[in-house]
Amino acid sequence: MLFMVDSADIQGIKKCNEFFPISGVTTNPTIISSAKSDFKQLLRDIRDIIGDDKMLHVQTTACVADDIVREAELLRDFVGGNFYIKIPITEEGLKAMSMCKARGIKVTATAIFTQQQALMAARAGADFVAPYINRLDNIISDGVHVVEEIVKMFNMQGLKTKVLAASFKTCEQVHKVAMVGAHSVTINPDLFSTLIYHPLTMYAIDAFDSDWSMVYGNKKAGDILSE
Ligand code: G3P
Repeated sequence: MLFMVDSADIQGIKKCNEFFPISGVTTNPTIISSAKSDFKQLLRDIRDIIGDDKMLHVQTTACVADDIVREAELLRDFVGGNFYIKIPITEEGLKAMSMCKARGIKVTATAIFTQQQALMAARAGADFVAPYINRLDNIISDGVHVVEEIVKMFNMQGLKTKVLAASFKTCEQVHKVAMVGAHSVTINPDLFSTLIYHPLTMYAIDAFDSDWSMVYGNKKAGDILSE
């Protein structure tokens, strides 16, 4: 399962890109707006941080297919590199997905809440579908179960479309979508740190340090080897 950063916070993206094995960054209009900065500069900065090879998913702000495609072409040219246009699952959105694919623009279908929305987007050529896990859980609709059925359905029907699970609040949600076969998740920078934190890990590292220093003092292995 691939990990992406769901954020437009430059410091958060920098940290995730430096320390975690991320495959890309995803944004949406809410995330972009929360950065309260120049839109074009923000996109340039994100691309500079992650480089051309990692995925950058940017959502359209248009609602009509022709306008969505126009924005997709402009964004692709501006953002460059490994670019995906995120398109919400509406009738105009579906039309735009097919049109974007015909123009060679990679597509992520977003705001997915049901299995049939995901199937329809896949048939329209979407490369990824993004179901919203926490928002489903909040209406007692079981986001993990939705992901499980989308994965199963894509496998049964031989569809190459991948699941990019989004909208997470807990590590348990991330773990559970991994266990039902989600191909990728997009999570906020804080959740990256929480996913790898464990007090017993810190306890083990402290014990390694103290056992070592009882014998070798302040010298690290590298210091001794380079003497
Ligand atoms: O990319 C979609 C995702 O960011 C939605 O997350 O936390 O607003 O439900 P959230």
